[in-house]
Amino acid sequence: MIKNLAWVTTQAAHGRDEDETAVVAALGVAGCTVEIVNWDNKAVTWSKFDRVVLRSAWDYPERLKDFLIWFDSVSGITEIVNSPAIIHWNLDKNYLNELADAGIAITPTVFVKPGDVYEFPVSEFVIKPAIGAGSRDAASYDSKQHEIATRHVARLHTSGQTVLVQPLLNSIARDGEWPMVFFNGKFSHAANKRVTLPRAGSVDDLFAPETNSPHTPTTNQLKVAQAAIDFVSSKFGTTTYARVDLVLDNQGSDCVLELELIEPSLFLYYADAKCTHSFVEALIQ
Ligand SMILES: Nc1ncnc2c1ncn2[C@@H]1O[C@H](COP(=O)(O)OP(=O)(O)O)[C@@H](O)[C@H]1O
Ligand SMILES: [Mg+2]
Repeated sequence: MIKNLAWVTTQAAHGRDEDETAVVAALGVAGCTVEIVNWDNKAVTWSKFDRVVLRSAWDYPERLKDFLIWFDSVSGITEIVNSPAIIHWNLDKNYLNELADAGIAITPTVFVKPGDVYEFPVSEFVIKPAIGAGSRDAASYDSKQHEIATRHVARLHTSGQTVLVQPLLNSIARDGEWPMVFFNGKFSHAANKRVTLPRAGSVDDLFAPETNSPHTPTTNQLKVAQAAIDFVSSKFGTTTYARVDLVLDNQGSDCVLELELIEPSLFLYYADAKCTHSFVEALIQ
């Protein structure tokens, strides 16, 4: 059993992680000492922890180089959760291609690398970076906004990013998205999350404002999300925690918007207390 665990956050996220208080308390009850630490705190001796768990390190995308230097050095010293191979793979939304190749429904996506020739869809569309989180650098555009959209793509390409161009999924504004949470590869609970994506703008906080509520998944949502998790498990082994964000495509079918395997909010606040216990078990075993 894990006795001594680092719960990794960042200064700007303090007090903003809805999962933290309940899980840290439950870990204590289970006999595990937890230290809440900023990933960039140079004074931390990482080797003293049996396990380092990435939680609200939500500023990693804009500090990626430093984050990866830190991450790779810590993963050489102690165990990091999720595993380094999973984290590296999940950093870049190009993994969506692999899910699609495995027959899992994903949001229709065109990947545009720097230097590629591209065209925008005729109807409304979304632009976002391959490496990003919390809606930062994501925006939607309509057919009259190609000029500003081109500048957005150019800006992302200049910073070395591959760009994802997707049709604007109409149901997201109406119905939101459905985070499906898994512990040790098994479904735990689901939620409904609504995020308003700015039109032709970008989010300059850690994450865009959200409204969340509990959700009981449909049979098909469970099937699609489990298929995505089984794909990850067969590639890398079991994920301690994982979130599959499902949405409806413009034909009304369930599809994966993204996999959150690095530092996802787990919506435990909206779930039964036994879900917190499942997470604690996965963290300490
Ligand atoms: N194709 C899309 N159509 C409509 N809204 C989208 C689309 N893609 C993303 N969004 C909105 O942008 C937000 C951020 O996009 P997402 O793919 O989840 O990336 P990340 O959370 O890593 O920034 C989503 O929560 C959703 O509200
Ligand atoms: Mg998201």
